[in-house]
Amino acid sequence: MPPLNELPLVSVPEAPPSLQGSKTTGLPFPDPQAFDPDLQGLLQGASDLLGDWFATAAHQRPLPGPTMLPPVSPGQRGLSNHALLAEVQQLMEGAYNPNHPGALAHLDPPPLLASVVGDLIAAGLNNNLLAEELSPSLSRLEKALCGWLAEAIGLPPGSGGVPASGGTLSNLMALVVARHQRGLDGVGEAVVLCSADAHVSLAKAMRVIGLLPDALRTIAVDAAGRLDTTGLAEELADLDRRGVPVIAVVATAGTTVRGAVDPLTTIASLCHQHGMWLHVDGAIGAVFALSEGHRHRVAGLELADSVTMNPQKLLGITKTSSLLLLACPAALNATFATGLPYMEPSWGGGHGGEAGLQGTRPAEVLKLWLGLRQLGLEGIAAVLDGAIFRRRQLQQLLEGDPRLRVLGGSFHLLAFRPAALDRAGCDLWSQRTRQLLLRDGLMLSRPDYQGYHHLKAVLGNPHTASEHLEALSVILLRSCGEAAGVSG
Ligand SMILES: Cc1ncc(COP(=O)(O)O)c(C=O)c1O
Repeated sequence: MPPLNELPLVSVPEAPPSLQGSKTTGLPFPDPQAFDPDLQGLLQGASDLLGDWFATAAHQRPLPGPTMLPPVSPGQRGLSNHALLAEVQQLMEGAYNPNHPGALAHLDPPPLLASVVGDLIAAGLNNNLLAEELSPSLSRLEKALCGWLAEAIGLPPGSGGVPASGGTLSNLMALVVARHQRGLDGVGEAVVLCSADAHVSLAKAMRVIGLLPDALRTIAVDAAGRLDTTGLAEELADLDRRGVPVIAVVATAGTTVRGAVDPLTTIASLCHQHGMWLHVDGAIGAVFALSEGHRHRVAGLELADSVTMNPQKLLGITKTSSLLLLACPAALNATFATGLPYMEPSWGGGHGGEAGLQGTRPAEVLKLWLGLRQLGLEGIAAVLDGAIFRRRQLQQLLEGDPRLRVLGGSFHLLAFRPAALDRAGCDLWSQRTRQLLLRDGLMLSRPDYQGYHHLKAVLGNPHTASEHLEALSVILLRSCGEAAGVSG
């Protein structure tokens, strides 16, 4: 991939004289002729609101109580900047607060500052990644950055990809590409293999691509939550024997509840033997391959045909930021291109709208690029280091107590439940303990995993300090002890 500054420039024709100096309309669009004080006032007001929201986040709660919604439908007359900002503030009071140090429930970290600004600039530019003439520089940036990311996680030279609005869409596109590449379009008996702990987005993808739910063959996981490769080998051999076509094997690098990584190298070698497409759902884990010190956690990722990566889940890139990266990016156009008869032909790199499922797309690449540039490789490593450090810290605080069963993996997720309780007991315990924790500004989630409700902590929040984890462990262990006492 040539550096951006070596890519050919596009010549921009001058505007015809009749359009130069056109008058503004009186409507609230940016003035194209002069710096607009109204725009400046609105931006400044919004930036002050957001600045205050960030600055007071630690004094609020992760999850606010119920709040009133501002009026929903447009009034007869449009609102002033002042009135608009007052309504925005009202909405912000009821927003989830990822910047609170106790926000530990989900894979939704605080936003990186440059990423917030990237979103604002992208909205202002209002370019469209559908076609090159609607986003000249951003289309080139998108291709170049996808190429860099794909190679940075170890895919071969020439690899690349496309952004998508969330991991669900990246996984769906991966299956559509795999099916097309394997010549299985329209084959109703085809199946997809994944582990029992794979993300629910795969079940959704099966519906979208017109396959029945049992076409998603789930293989059991081992005690550490990783796909059992003996089971996979047996299933592949059986499908071979019966002549059942396989669209893809999907391995997970970072399962949703405990962050387990399937044995990617062994799975890749099985896929190689059987001529299968390997998609790795690395929505959680693929970003760890960006750092030398963490790459070992996803060893084998580089052997995948396609990888889902969600920089929104840990790196703080504002939502949405997901990518489908492929060893052979030409497969995207081979699968999705229909021609865009209402557009000028591509002048080089290919239209973004031909490389994936989405047509019109915002410039999500801008906030990803700006966020990564702001962090630098050292900053990326520091985010990952911090998340792993906090997971280890909490794990140490909890694992010493035999009353609690703690499930972890290679990343920054931990799930736990009282060992002595049955299903109903775990359901009650998790509800009650979540409420107790919320009262102290600590928010965990409550996944139903392997038939038991657990509490889950996601340790990707850089504001969480040792004192928060200690407070969390005290409440958890006390509540676990009380529950065990009641059940005993
Ligand atoms: C492993 C995994 N894959 C895919 C997804 C779906 O990603 P998104 O919510 O961005 O659609 C998730 C979401 O948590 C996930 O954990």
